[in-house]
Amino acid sequence: MLNEYDRIAFIYDKLVSLVFGKSIHKAQVAFLDKLEDGDKVLIVGGGTGWILEEIFKRIKPSKLIYVEASSEMIKLSEQRNVSKLNHEYIEFIHSDSLLFASNVQFDVIITNFFLDLFTNEELQGWKSQILNLLKPRGFWFVSDFQLVYSSLDSYWQRVFSLFMHRFFKLFTSLRRNQFPNWESLFDDVNLQIIASQSFFRGMIFSKVYSYKDSIT
Ligand SMILES: C[S@@+](CC[C@H](N)C(=O)[O-])C[C@H]1O[C@@H](n2cnc3c(N)ncnc32)[C@H](O)[C@@H]1O
Repeated sequence: MLNEYDRIAFIYDKLVSLVFGKSIHKAQVAFLDKLEDGDKVLIVGGGTGWILEEIFKRIKPSKLIYVEASSEMIKLSEQRNVSKLNHEYIEFIHSDSLLFASNVQFDVIITNFFLDLFTNEELQGWKSQILNLLKPRGFWFVSDFQLVYSSLDSYWQRVFSLFMHRFFKLFTSLRRNQFPNWESLFDDVNLQIIASQSFFRGMIFSKVYSYKDSIT
């Protein structure tokens, strides 16, 4: 799974904005105002690292770990850090997140346009692994694509979905043919949605999860 995105890293951001305009960006920054100074933040599959700039515009985390499987994506993120942010406490880890372990407990975990890369079986185990790293009052931010079958726009959503799927399959070994069942993905792990917004005619969502028994 390592380095599958290397070949498209240089063009990834341009490509998604060509197809989805600003929606991908808007979805990922929608709830960043929930972050607070001093937070410990984990970003998994962060891509080229533009989200780092958005985070540092808002807060000063006490720790930020950036786990990415693509060495080219990591390189771009590190370059961005050196040229624009220069925060020595961002830790870049080139690793398959399925193998990632840490003894840090995080206030915020961010997985944007990432969970749909995995099979249900992979997600099942990985969820609990990652949740062990989330503080009891922490937030899990998820943005991704979804299909809204009842909408009048569903035809276009299917066309887009097919287009994206074919495109990523060309360059990566995308292993699933449809999106995860987002509604039930976190049912078994005691998480609730505390904020949610959709973009691009409902085809992109941004959600914030927290533990059901946490006071928010
Ligand atoms: C669809 S891109 C999304 C990038 C970024 N989150 C964004 O929305 O701009 C998925 C990213 O996850 C990374 N990735 C894929 N599998 C991974 C894994 N098992 N562990 C860590 N990163 C992974 C890819 O290298 C790629 O950068």
